[in-house]
Amino acid sequence: MDPYRNPFAPGAGSRPPELAGRDAILELAKISCGRAIKGRSARSIMLLGLRGVGKTVLLNEIGRNAGQDGLLVSRVESPEDESLARLIYPEMKKVMRSLSGVEAAKQIATRGLRGLRNFAAIFKIEIAGVEMGIEPEPGLADTGDLQYDLPDLFTLIGKAAQAAGRGWILLIDEVQYLSEGDLSALIVSLHRMSQEGLPVILVGAGLPQIARLAGEAKSYSERLFQYPPVGPLDSASASQAIEKPIIEEDAFITDDALRLIVDRTKGYPFFLQEWASVVWNNAEGPKITLDDAEQSYAETLTLLDDGFFKVRIDRLTKAEVQFVKAMAELGDGPYAMADIAHMMKRTQKSLGPARSSIITKGMIYSTDHGYLDFSVPLFAEFMRRQG
Ligand SMILES: Nc1ncnc2c1ncn2[C@@H]1O[C@H](COP(=O)(O)OP(=O)(O)O)[C@@H](O)[C@H]1O
Ligand SMILES: [Mg+2]
Repeated sequence: MDPYRNPFAPGAGSRPPELAGRDAILELAKISCGRAIKGRSARSIMLLGLRGVGKTVLLNEIGRNAGQDGLLVSRVESPEDESLARLIYPEMKKVMRSLSGVEAAKQIATRGLRGLRNFAAIFKIEIAGVEMGIEPEPGLADTGDLQYDLPDLFTLIGKAAQAAGRGWILLIDEVQYLSEGDLSALIVSLHRMSQEGLPVILVGAGLPQIARLAGEAKSYSERLFQYPPVGPLDSASASQAIEKPIIEEDAFITDDALRLIVDRTKGYPFFLQEWASVVWNNAEGPKITLDDAEQSYAETLTLLDDGFFKVRIDRLTKAEVQFVKAMAELGDGPYAMADIAHMMKRTQKSLGPARSSIITKGMIYSTDHGYLDFSVPLFAEFMRRQG
């Protein structure tokens, strides 16, 4: 059918034509935002799930809704090697600036801008000429320890936002790439917000490997955050994600074609979008049949193998590839470290560095029970296809 009218949106972070099955999570976020603005204690949210389940899309949607509800919205994505200070400095500045334009919040926000000036200096963040004019204020966010300085800045933002009758929502994608120190500074800051009843919340998205959060940070985070699981879509939602956009374009899909796609993709959003997009382009139309779906499967797999899956494996060293190959040969996960070692004829200890490096790269994660699993759905099948 006409590729120009193809409604599907395969691609990282691409907004799907139908955001199916996520109403409960969107509602949760809406409630947190509404409570924050009203000065009631509001819990932050951590969206954890595998690659391609729709975390980024959800984060964006939550940000859009929050903006409509009157919150100031900041969104950042953590790259692998960037400090949180650098990452959120420009966002905090934007928020302070915008609040300093509100009469009731002006005084606090101006103080916040001074604090930011100190913060930039101590964390060696380059600033533009205009800020040079801002007077520093000694003792404000200038210890150089994020655990102290970040809560101070959050407090100023929170107080300014409160004075302005607003709230601030900070969206952080790929939280698994934050260092442990940065993550705990965030947690300490949010804890402060909740103690002082300030309208600041965080919505994070990332891979399901928060296990490394240890001790105190962990017990805090369990109280501060809600963790709605972000998984594959159930079959009703998956069907809706495919069928509704097709109908909206005045085409149809037969029930058996729909079922094939839903079953074989196991409801994983990325795979759904990819297959639905291919079958749309290939079908004669206006009715998409089982035959159309079956015939476009091979092309879909090739696209996924050369794109979604391949970009993951390209980031691994040879030794790391051997490691994930051994996992895949064991079948589908989760995998015991002892079994992987046995398969590779190595000791568990000697595999330690490869294991932790692959975890750092976000390719595998340690499950609740101390097993390992792939953070990319259906990855074991992909590896086995590579032979
Ligand atoms: N609820 C949903 N219904 C249908 N498609 C979705 C949904 N959520 C995400 N998608 C699609 O899945 C793909 C991956 O989404 P993305 O947000 O990038 O996932 P993640 O951030 O978890 O890796 C995109 O093509 C997006 O359009
Ligand atoms: Mg994402």
